[in-house]
Amino acid sequence: MFVPNVEKNPPFNITRASHVRYRVKDLDRSLVFYTEVLGFVLSDREGGVAYLRGIEEACHHSVVLIQSDEGGRVAECIGMRVASEDDLHRAREHITATGGSAEFIERPHQGPTLLTTMAPGTPPIELCSSMPVLPRLLNNFPAQKGGRVLRLDHYQCVVPDLPTAVNRFLGLGFRPSKYTTDVDSGQVLSIFLTRKNNPHDIVLAQAAGPRLHHVAFVVSDLQAIIRAADIAANLGWGRDVEHGPGRHGPPNGIFIYFRDPDGNRIEFILPPMQFMDPEDMPNTWNSTDSVSLVPWGSGPPQRWREEMTHFAGIEPGGGPLARWTSLTNKTG
Ligand SMILES: [Fe+2]
Repeated sequence: MFVPNVEKNPPFNITRASHVRYRVKDLDRSLVFYTEVLGFVLSDREGGVAYLRGIEEACHHSVVLIQSDEGGRVAECIGMRVASEDDLHRAREHITATGGSAEFIERPHQGPTLLTTMAPGTPPIELCSSMPVLPRLLNNFPAQKGGRVLRLDHYQCVVPDLPTAVNRFLGLGFRPSKYTTDVDSGQVLSIFLTRKNNPHDIVLAQAAGPRLHHVAFVVSDLQAIIRAADIAANLGWGRDVEHGPGRHGPPNGIFIYFRDPDGNRIEFILPPMQFMDPEDMPNTWNSTDSVSLVPWGSGPPQRWREEMTHFAGIEPGGGPLARWTSLTNKTG
């Protein structure tokens, strides 16, 4: 069994996954999808950039859509929050001293922001300590549309060197809540890592990368999932309801996956279970234990296994792009 060596006093304090920046080909069309189908609320639109949040979110944005000729499954970075501005300075010092990169950048509607790469082959992550606060819209029923999305929950990324990436994130205080292993070698194939008190902020899997498989958001109930899918169909995106509804397993894991107009994959999940006590060890499955991973249904389509979002300016490396395909086929 893989025994995680979690750092209980990390060099800086990441608190949660918080936001993603996508480049999109047609901002107006993307906004229809994100607001009418998924139910995001527009916090601001400035020229070719739109800032969106879920109805439970008080902080300014969890999705940034940037009009760009380079749109089409391209993300600039994923974002995480840190506890204080001091954490950003500690982060820059630690990351640059341990083989990563970190530079302060300007971002509208964010406090001081540090754009980082924790280690070669890992996704670009921008860390910020604050955002402007706007009203939560949980009790504003006329403002709620589509799937009435509540909040961002986690990312799933693939990386070319999973052991190095996992050790890096464990050293930053992330805890594993579950992982899968190859039935023959015992090698860890994917791992769910968390900083907040549920099972996941970022999921990492072994494949040529870094690439972004999906970003997951929490919705309130099954009706929200069905309503989003119905509206997607009404508006011509019925075939972009890619996978599900289905069940992932223990973390209250009802899911559905959509593809946005640029092909980025968005997951909706029900509110996940709590995972916070230090003696609560991660679940593990081997790569043939498909009934535990996905208890019913026929599994994902091939495009779910193969197609992912690239990070702008970063060529995936470290092996054949399809490597995860063969690994996931065992689990799917
Ligand atoms: Fe997910």
